[in-house]
Amino acid sequence: MTRLYDIDPLRALPAAAYREAAFGADVAHIYRNDWVFVGTADEVAEPGDFVTTELGGQPVIVQRNQEGRLTAMSNMCAHRGTLLVEGHGNTKRFQCPYHAWTFADDGRLLAVPYTNRDDVDRDVHCLPSYVADEWHGLVFASLNSDVAPLAERFAHLDAIASEADMAGLNHWTAHRGDETWEANWKLVISNAMESYHLFKVHEETLEPYSPTSGAYYIVGNADATATGGISSRGGGGDYTLLSLLPNFVGVLTGDSLLWQAVQPLAWNRTRIVTGGAYRSPSPENSKGLAKLAGKAAASAGAMLPDFLPEDEAICLRGQRAASGDYTPGVLVPMEQVISDFHHYLNRQLHGADVPPVRTSADVGIPRQNEAASL
Ligand code: FES
Ligand SMILES: [Fe+2]
Repeated sequence: MTRLYDIDPLRALPAAAYREAAFGADVAHIYRNDWVFVGTADEVAEPGDFVTTELGGQPVIVQRNQEGRLTAMSNMCAHRGTLLVEGHGNTKRFQCPYHAWTFADDGRLLAVPYTNRDDVDRDVHCLPSYVADEWHGLVFASLNSDVAPLAERFAHLDAIASEADMAGLNHWTAHRGDETWEANWKLVISNAMESYHLFKVHEETLEPYSPTSGAYYIVGNADATATGGISSRGGGGDYTLLSLLPNFVGVLTGDSLLWQAVQPLAWNRTRIVTGGAYRSPSPENSKGLAKLAGKAAASAGAMLPDFLPEDEAICLRGQRAASGDYTPGVLVPMEQVISDFHHYLNRQLHGADVPPVRTSADVGIPRQNEAASL
């Protein structure tokens, strides 16, 4: 693999990681190669339900088939490459809007108008299949059929997700946030992963609810990390932050999961989708949350004071500076989760070996972190 820049797990990323030249490798070795979060199980609950997405720019349909299994296949017509379908829906077959070639939900070509049987080889002109799977209510897909099973990948976080009954939460898909930031996806996801910046960037919004001083490391590796923090919202209690690489971060409390997912659109442009899942099936059934419905109640930015613009501003500052060069600074103990991310990048981009699953004891970070001592 070509190496455009070095990745040190103990230091920040060099500015080169955020520039145009680095983007091709991100697409090839991460977004077109690895598992990528694409949505939630509620969106594809019934046989025939499908959603459309892009994996590293490749248009993909993710569907629950008639047997109830999640599948994925190309969303480009096998004739002249037109986008077959947009948005979401429920169907057993897909007909192209251009010349009406028609495909089964497993990609087989069924019908080709105005041709004789020999004109088009149906076995050759089918839609390539990819892989899709779910983990505690979250749906992932990959263009790489040799990718390691999803269940193995996040196994070290299973106990946390099960204990919180994450799969039993109801995703309010009608109340999603969707915006585009002018920053590289690595800046956006690493910012979402760490709690070190709360006291500064979110001094008046998040810090009063979830102070930096209460953040701690739980367990993680190069695939996924759980960190925690003391929450003063409601009756207090801890929250758990799940970072599922490369593109999902969710904050899990006793009764909700507020999440943020990134989709790289270009080297300096990233789509941010926010959503939430709750015990209550809908805002109407939840007294406390009903008043928030209609203004993207489920987006992370609506449950709490609106902190997302603060994150956007700080990510944009990172991107604006990335034309320059600097010596990457050391990551502080509280940024262990960023170190896990760097191991992930090192493996995907440079083929490096990565450490096994580690807990707070292994990484030497006390469960209750004291910001004042840093
Ligand atoms: S491009 Fe799809 S049928 Fe022609
Ligand atoms: Fe933030």
